[in-house]
Amino acid sequence: MIKTTPKSHLFRLAGVLVLFAVAFLLVKSWATPDSWNFEQWYRGDALIDIAAQPLTYGGNESCKDCHQAAIKKLRKFDHKALSCESCHGPVVDHVKGQKKIAKAIVDKSRWQCENCHDERINRPKGFPQFSQAGEIGKSIKKHKDLEAETPCLKCHDAHDPTP
Ligand code: HEC
Ligand code: HEC
Ligand code: HEC
Ligand code: HEC
Repeated sequence: MIKTTPKSHLFRLAGVLVLFAVAFLLVKSWATPDSWNFEQWYRGDALIDIAAQPLTYGGNESCKDCHQAAIKKLRKFDHKALSCESCHGPVVDHVKGQKKIAKAIVDKSRWQCENCHDERINRPKGFPQFSQAGEIGKSIKKHKDLEAETPCLKCHDAHDPTP
């Protein structure tokens, strides 16, 4: 029989804690992926997995062989910083050997512009905002009496939005 002393419950408790610690380390080493990067704290193989995903966005560089004119125009005006694909959707490859195999989006709705220009308090200060009442954005006479359906493109050009 084990002799109990007034301190033996402490030894039992320490035993339980050590057991927990060992179990934790075992589970941790079993669950840590082999490629774990301990310096930067991520799964190394994740980079390979991500790189293997199919491309969906080509980037502006990829349009320049075929759409020089659109790029040249865009670069000159206030939309120069925009990515073509923020308006035309992901079109990494809509053409094969000069034949169109998929459509790029050409959305002429107001939403296309309001997505970036509707009036919001969290937009950067001075960012041109469309508002009919002119509460945050500049009050613009031409905007005041617009009908709800009038497309922005009636007066603005998407590639050169200068009014
Ligand atoms: C290999 C040449 C080529 C590349 C690269 C290319 N396009 Fe096109 N694009 C075309 C052709 C050809 C058409 C069809 C023109 C027509 O029907 O008159 C077209 C049409 C379009 C249209 C009109 C809508 C449609 O579907 O017809 C848009 C918008 C467009 N491209 C955007 C882009 C963007 C953005 C990129 C870059 C991410 C890009 N294109 C890259 C050749 C290309
Ligand atoms: C702010 C949004 C926006 C951006 C950015 C933009 N476009 Fe467009 N693009 C449009 C809209 C809207 C139209 C349709 C204009 C119209 O018909 O009045 C259009 C038309 C086109 C067309 C002709 C399609 C047709 O059939 O009329 C091509 C090609 C095109 N864009 C290519 C590009 C390329 C390449 C870039 C990047 C350099 C680009 N666009 C950037 C909104 C945009
Ligand atoms: C992806 C975001 C985005 C979209 C979509 C977008 N714009 Fe813009 N727009 C911008 C940025 C960024 C600027 C430059 C703001 C600045 O200079 O501070 C700008 C500037 C403008 C200006 C001011 C031009 C000037 O010379 O004063 C007008 C007008 C404008 N856009 C109209 C439009 C219209 C119309 C559409 C829809 C076809 C549109 N925008 C779609 C981001 C966008
Ligand atoms: C009836 C013609 C017309 C229509 C339609 C129109 N605009 Fe304008 N917009 C103008 C004119 C004119 C100006 C320049 C007024 C000025 O600078 O005093 C302007 C200026 C702007 C500006 C610049 C504001 C600034 O603070 O400098 C933005 C952004 C803009 N419009 C976005 C839009 C959007 C988004 C739509 C569609 C929802 C739209 N506009 C529809 C005529 C129009």
